[in-house]
Amino acid sequence: MDMREVYVDHAAAAPIDTRVAANMQEFLGAAGNPSSFHTKGKVLRDAIDAVRAQVASVIGARPDEVIFTSGGTESDNLAILGTARQYAEKGKHIISVKSEHEAVLEALNQLEKEGFEVTLLDPDAFGAVSADQVIAALRDNTILVSVMLANNEIGTINPIAEIGRALNSNKRENLFPLFHTDACQAIGSMEVNIDALHVDMLTLNAAKIYGPKGIGALYTHRGVKLKSLQYGGSQEKRIRPGTENLLGIIGLGEAIRLAEEEREAYVPRVTALRDKLIAGIQERIPKVRLNGHRENRLPNNVNISFMDIEGEALLLYLDAAGIYASTGSACTSASLDPSHVILSLGVPYEVAHGSIRFSLGRSTTEEDIDYILEQLPPLVEKLRKISPVNVDERHF
Ligand SMILES: Cc1ncc(COP(=O)(O)O)c(C=O)c1O
Repeated sequence: MDMREVYVDHAAAAPIDTRVAANMQEFLGAAGNPSSFHTKGKVLRDAIDAVRAQVASVIGARPDEVIFTSGGTESDNLAILGTARQYAEKGKHIISVKSEHEAVLEALNQLEKEGFEVTLLDPDAFGAVSADQVIAALRDNTILVSVMLANNEIGTINPIAEIGRALNSNKRENLFPLFHTDACQAIGSMEVNIDALHVDMLTLNAAKIYGPKGIGALYTHRGVKLKSLQYGGSQEKRIRPGTENLLGIIGLGEAIRLAEEEREAYVPRVTALRDKLIAGIQERIPKVRLNGHRENRLPNNVNISFMDIEGEALLLYLDAAGIYASTGSACTSASLDPSHVILSLGVPYEVAHGSIRFSLGRSTTEEDIDYILEQLPPLVEKLRKISPVNVDERHF
């Protein structure tokens, strides 16, 4: 097969869809500030409000419950720091999971320094936590629970609706603990409805759904107050002051509209490609381990540990072959430490080290999968030949 370029890192960022770009283009030269009193400003304000309504309608929220942010990190930070600091007198205990994104874990780390107590649950061997685990960890002073909807590295989907229902029967003052979920990776791949999930806060991110990078949103239930992380003007109800990222917001609106509209056609198509890639790797390459749940996973996620090799070395070889994948989260890929997500599954350090994530997308074809399956086995073999490691087969 001829050399080709295969982008399989959509979970880090998907390229901007041309239809999204076209919408953004319309506003590129727009004059005015959305807060300006004149007509030019009003046009922009209306455009922003239309996107707010669009985002709200996709997740079943009210427009005034949607705040625009700079992406997943800020939405997670705002949900966690914003509620913990707002309601500190109601309790200082928070529950989350070891396999969460750094945007959650580092915010919790900060809160520990501020005197909060954090319980991090262990996910099961497939990367999921159960409602029973969450309920068992509840204390009288738990004010917040944060569990992601779908994991960015291994694709495992958590039973958020069950956890939300269980928490609802344990609420104090009808409010605590608040329940936040990070849905950055889930939106566009499954139904994301705040009532069905029973969540109080939900994080969204445009970059994962073919929108621009650096724009996201946080849904917060009307009855929940957030303490702002920044100070300034009256934008976004003063919770997120500063002139709005107009182009980003316009992009997010069209991206989420398309993701929802095309979900029904996209999911079965990409699931078939995912399954072909998993089966193909397992057939052709010995000593591999599929990370995450076999079925209960995102339709575009393939995460495999290749024993006896380093993920980064394989990534470099794949890159030279025109295959663009990742070892996991873009935030940690600069470090050579194995992924905290794979380690949280209870696998040994040596196994976690050789993990690669292939995240497929709208443009992925059968030929792309065939190309990966052709290129990958000899590269793995080559690296194993020079590897000093030989992991015991019982570990996978
Ligand atoms: C689950 C999850 N949460 C949060 C983030 C952070 O998003 P951003 O880098 O856009 O702030 C990401 C992106 O990698 C993610 O996948």
